[in-house]
This record gives sequence, structure tokens and C-alpha cells, in this order.
Amino acid sequence: MLLLSLALRNYRNYSRLDLEPGPRLNVFLGLNGQGKTNLLESVALLALSASPRARRESELVGPLAPEARVEAVVESRGRQSEVRISIVVEGERARRRIEIDGVPKRAIDLPGLFRVTLFWPDDLGLVKSGPDHRRRLLNQMLVQVVPGYTANLSRYARVVEQRNSLLKQVAAREQPPAALDVWDVELARLGSSLAEARAGAVDELRDLAAAQHAAISGGERLELDYQGPPADLLEAVHNSRPEDLRRGSTSVGPHRDDVAIRLDGREARGFASQGQQRTAVVSIKLAEAAVIQARTGEPPVLLFDDVLSELDAERRQALLAGLSSPGQVIITSVEADPFPAGVIEQSVVRCIEKGQVVGCG
Ligand SMILES: Nc1ncnc2c1ncn2[C@@H]1O[C@H](COP(=O)(O)OP(=O)(O)OP(=O)(O)O)[C@@H](O)[C@H]1O
Ligand SMILES: [Mg+2]
Repeated sequence: MLLLSLALRNYRNYSRLDLEPGPRLNVFLGLNGQGKTNLLESVALLALSASPRARRESELVGPLAPEARVEAVVESRGRQSEVRISIVVEGERARRRIEIDGVPKRAIDLPGLFRVTLFWPDDLGLVKSGPDHRRRLLNQMLVQVVPGYTANLSRYARVVEQRNSLLKQVAAREQPPAALDVWDVELARLGSSLAEARAGAVDELRDLAAAQHAAISGGERLELDYQGPPADLLEAVHNSRPEDLRRGSTSVGPHRDDVAIRLDGREARGFASQGQQRTAVVSIKLAEAAVIQARTGEPPVLLFDDVLSELDAERRQALLAGLSSPGQVIITSVEADPFPAGVIEQSVVRCIEKGQVVGCG
């Protein structure tokens, strides 16, 4: 998997960028607020079809015109494709258009063509923040490797929404309870398929993440456990109906999933230090890359934003050693300092200044 070229037009603080990354390790250095995270976000957009950080798509559009564009040539299994994403602001809303090799595509059809594993500082919340962050982790990986997962995910979200509004109508006696039956069945069908994919993903991630974490930390034990819906989801949905009617929302199903993260046998959420959290998240991300490679036969492009800060010298060295897989890596840092000796010499190093990529020094 390779990003051969990237062109940004009016994307966040990039008015115009044309870039050809190297096939291995690419390092982008820049001070705060210069565009490092924006650059990685644009590459992630090509893989996921939506930004994992923007709350509104219109945030992606720069000051110049009503339109932002991300265009790239990517290569998978020796085959090149041209991906174009354009985001046009129309009043309050933004419209996204996607083309692959000149053919318009729906957003749900893009994931899987170009695959990435993304780590950025927002992901540090993975250990400490709420379960939706951990569900997003699994979704980000699964949309790229399981055909149909993206479509199921969005169908499931619609079913939950429609069931919730029907619950309120049934509670208000505007609809008979039997009207819920078809939604219960649909919820259980789609929900079971999502849960099965997620359980399988955690099973594959578990040992790989533990091995990465042990290697980077010098022996800490990382454990992951999927906490999914009951095995007989239809029965559980049925049994929860009285409670759901009282609350006006659906209480069982994979929209309530979580992944338990433990370090040396204890819940990481409560006590892991900053550096330990970072190590755990990076290890899970490296495991994700390994799972993507195992499932698809190709390593994803690794996008690591400011990954080295807060790690001690030994952890940095071990982490970078873990990146010696044959794939393409794009890594950012405020300074060249934290890179262990030799790494910068083996990389394509560029500097980012005010939304421009320039040579360093
Ligand atoms: N839609 C937009 N239009 C113009 N500028 C934007 C837009 N969205 C974000 N920016 C600007 O982009 C700049 C760079 O952001 P980015 O997050 O990429 O910085 P960074 O290099 O990662 O910095 P840090 O080291 O602090 O993480 C910010 O100053 C932000 O104000
Ligand atoms: Mg940043």
C-alpha cells in the first residue's frame, strides 16, 4: 500500500500542496499550528472517506473558496488508482464528492481501496475516555478490511434511530407495540454481524498488541477484551423492551460495546500514566496495522502524529524499531530531537511551515 502523490487545494491551512512521499519512512517536522496534523488528516480522509476528527465537514475547507480538495494517487497490489475528494460548502452545509479513477462513488464505497493506520494525540483518549472512542478504534480498522462493514454500520445506526423514535411513539400509545417487532429483528440481525466482526478483530489484536506493548515498555502486560452484546441479541432486545419503552432508547446492542484495556492486570483507565497510555495506544495501533496486513496481504500506510513525545528514550527506540516493517510510514514531530540516532538519516525529512512543505534547514 503506497501513497504515491498527494495534492491539497484549500484544505484547512493548505492553500496549495503537491507532495510525493517516499516509499518508506517520511518525517515531517514543524512547530505548533503549522499543519502537521492537518496533513495526516487529509491522508486519513482518503482511506476512511470522512475525517476522524472534524465535527463538521465544513471545517476542512480553507479560507480561499467554497471548496476543499484532496487528490491522491495510491497504489495497492501494484495497481494505481486516483482518488479525488472534494468538499463544497453550501450555506450551512457541506457536500462531499468522491471519485475513483474519474468515476463518482458513494462515501461508503471508498474504504478498503487505500488503507491506513492512524495514530494521533486524540487517540490518547482511547484508554481514559468513554467507550465510543474504543468503538471508533474498531470501526476504523474494520471499515478498511471487512467488505460491507461500512454499509452495515450506517444501516445499524439508522435502525437504532428509528427504533428509538418508535419506542417513544409506542410509549405515547400512538403506535401498537407490535410495530417494534420488525425493528427488533433488524437490530439483532445487523447488530450481531457488527458484534461478530468486532469480536474477531479484538481476538486478532489481543496477542499482537500485547507483544508490541511488552516490547516497547520492557515487559508491561497489556490485555484487551471485547465487551459486546449478549450472544442471543434478538432475545436480549426483546427482553429489554419494557425498559427501552420507559427510557425511550435502545439499551442493548453493539452501540453500547466497549473494549476493556488492562495493564499488568489492572483497569488501565483508572491508573495508567501518560507515557503508559501512549505506549498502550501505539501498541494497539501497531497491532491494528499487523491485522490489516494479515487480512489483506499488504501493510497499511502508518500515519503517526507526534507519536514520540512523552516517551522515554528506550520506548522511542523500541517503537521506531517496531516500524521497521516494509510499509510506508508518515510520522510528524515538533522537533528532530526525539528521533534516535540514525532514524532521520534513513528517512525523507521535510519541514512544514504555515501550510507549506519545505526542505529543512
Ligand atoms: N479550515 C481551516 N482553514 C484555515 N486554517 C485552518 C482550518 N482548520 C484548521 N486551520 C489551521 O491549521 C493550523 C494548523 O493545524 P494543525 O493541527 O495541523 O497543526 P500542527 O502542526 O499539527 O500543530 P501541533 O504541533 O500544535 O499539533 C491551525 O493553526 C489551525 O488554525
Ligand atoms: Mg498536531
